[in-house]
Amino acid sequence: MKTENFTLRCFQPRDLDAVIRINMTCLPENYTPFFYLQHYRNFPKAFYVAEVDGRVVGYVMSRVERGLSNHKPLSIVKKGHIVSIAVLPEYRRRGIGKALMTHSLEGLREYGAEECYLEVRVSNTAAINLYKSLGFEMVRVVKRYYLDGEDAYIMSRRLT
Ligand SMILES: CC(C)(COP(=O)(O)OP(=O)(O)OC[C@H]1O[C@@H](n2cnc3c(N)ncnc32)[C@H](O)[C@@H]1OP(=O)(O)O)[C@@H](O)C(=O)NCCC(=O)NCCS
Repeated sequence: MKTENFTLRCFQPRDLDAVIRINMTCLPENYTPFFYLQHYRNFPKAFYVAEVDGRVVGYVMSRVERGLSNHKPLSIVKKGHIVSIAVLPEYRRRGIGKALMTHSLEGLREYGAEECYLEVRVSNTAAINLYKSLGFEMVRVVKRYYLDGEDAYIMSRRLT
């Protein structure tokens, strides 16, 4: 396992190109620059990047929504939503993904979110394990959620 140090900080607009490049390298779900900047403007404390030797190597982008609770039956609550997370392949398995998630969850908590949810491909064992290690549980399956027809697990955890 590699052991170089990494640092985390909140996303800044100057990170946009790097974040888009990481997203395009790591995920088939891609977004417009406007989409990233909108999340930065609305929820800056939940949008983090990880740096190694001054290079941005990972990010997590999240937001707060209002909707039906996954934990309190028939309640409308503020829910955090992990919209996108990725770490460049050569920097994985050294705790960066977990640290990004932990910081984003703390930001979501600061915005008053009571719980947090996300979608993940049913085949994405790495991400599912990461989320389980942070206390997320599968709450349901959404059939053919992804454009290529793959199903998604909705995973959720309480933040309070
Ligand atoms: C998912 C992802 C962000 C994890 O980033 P990471 O920096 O490698 O994660 P961490 O090093 O913090 O791993 C934390 C835990 O997650 C689990 N995990 C991470 N990668 C794993 C893998 N390849 N296989 C199994 N478990 C894995 C492990 O439990 C790990 O703890 P451990 O290393 O002590 O065993 C990264 O694999 C990635 O960018 N994948 C492509 C993009 C993606 O799938 N994003 C999620 C979309 S929902």
